[in-house]
Amino acid sequence: MNVGVIGSGGREHAICKLLHHSSKVGKLYCFPGNAGTAKIALNIDIDLSDFTKLKDFILENKIDLIVVGPEKPLVEGIVDYLEDFKIKVFGPNKTASQLEGSKIFTKNICKKYNIPTAKFKIFNLETEAIGFLEEVSFPIVIKADNLASGKGVYICDNKNNSISAIKEIFGGKFGKAKNILIEEFLVGEEMSFFIVSDGINVKNFGTAQDHKRVLEGDKGKNTGGMGAYSPSRLINNKLQEKILDKIIHPTLKALKDMNSEYKGFLYAGLMIINNEPYLIEYNVRMGDPECQTILPKLNTDLVDIFLACCEKKLNKTNIEWNNKKSLCIVLCSKGYPDKYQKNILIKNLDKIKEDENNFCFHAGTATVQNEILATGGRVLNFTSLSNDFSDAKKEVINNLNILDWTEGFYRKDIGYKVINK
Ligand code: AMP
Ligand code: GLY
Repeated sequence: MNVGVIGSGGREHAICKLLHHSSKVGKLYCFPGNAGTAKIALNIDIDLSDFTKLKDFILENKIDLIVVGPEKPLVEGIVDYLEDFKIKVFGPNKTASQLEGSKIFTKNICKKYNIPTAKFKIFNLETEAIGFLEEVSFPIVIKADNLASGKGVYICDNKNNSISAIKEIFGGKFGKAKNILIEEFLVGEEMSFFIVSDGINVKNFGTAQDHKRVLEGDKGKNTGGMGAYSPSRLINNKLQEKILDKIIHPTLKALKDMNSEYKGFLYAGLMIINNEPYLIEYNVRMGDPECQTILPKLNTDLVDIFLACCEKKLNKTNIEWNNKKSLCIVLCSKGYPDKYQKNILIKNLDKIKEDENNFCFHAGTATVQNEILATGGRVLNFTSLSNDFSDAKKEVINNLNILDWTEGFYRKDIGYKVINK
């Protein structure tokens, strides 16, 4: 069968790599892809907001299955659109994608279905939001309602920076803002929890801990993710049961009550406080770099999981994992997440070690005249599997040293909570 993957990051390269190794996959396409996917798939440069053009290409090239990596096309309704043309798509529909597209949609579900989350209030007037600051104790968290690529969240420890956050959001920094969310600041440890669903059945899809801040010690600006390890050190059977019973199942029930359903990966960003889970946010996709960290542990053919979801047969598919620890470090362009130079040559990529335990997934790269250039902020993801996190990290660092790309930087402390005990 022919398969198409939508997206161009490390997550999509990891998905393409697994699909490339499946004996069931014939032609593999990536829309638009990167220099890594170009080696194993046909990169097709189509504007992802042009659904008509994408649909025409899929039909003309007889692509049997489409896998959507990033949130933007999901929130814009790409799944509903393609399914109207009888195209098989792995990913949630537009209604379900509001779990990520609108924080207020999710908070309202939490309220109605008693899902543990930070206490919150919604404001549609700047003056009222500012007035409310008289009643709170700091720190508080102020959030834009809509998709903001992880940037519309402010953690404020005083009245002045809260007022500027409210003004920035209502001023349109993250697009037109009708509403704003002010919530209680939760103190605990974060964990990413993944499931996959076909609309009826739910299966666990691993846990991870990512490092979102740019500087070592989890300091500095938020980024897309500087590295991750899997499994999370916090997971245990009791906690898993609570996450499913108190958070995941009530959410899926809420969608059913809206005459919708959830098909695809669902990523719950959780705060764990004394072995109790609280929902911080949902993402309607795999995480990046969590996907590059978790997928190398998968023993089941990924295409079977995607197809089972599209055919509502997930109950008949066993998802099997190896027992290894996985650690991923993201190599970034100097300056990220602010300004960085583009089109810088990366040498030595052919010298790095890649085998069943060591992986290199491309993110912001492009091939120009047979050379590989860094074109994005997050450039390459190195993942290694081992029996313990410390050895996995050593393997990743060995590969980074072989590459020795002086225009890049990476966090040397990824996994410090599970390694430097
Ligand atoms: P979000 O985009 O909602 O995941 O928020 C981005 C980051 O802000 C999260 O990964 C947390 O580190 C932090 N955060 C968001 N909401 C809260 C909260 N209520 N309490 C503490 N930290 C939070
Ligand atoms: N690693 C965080 C995310 O994918 O949203």
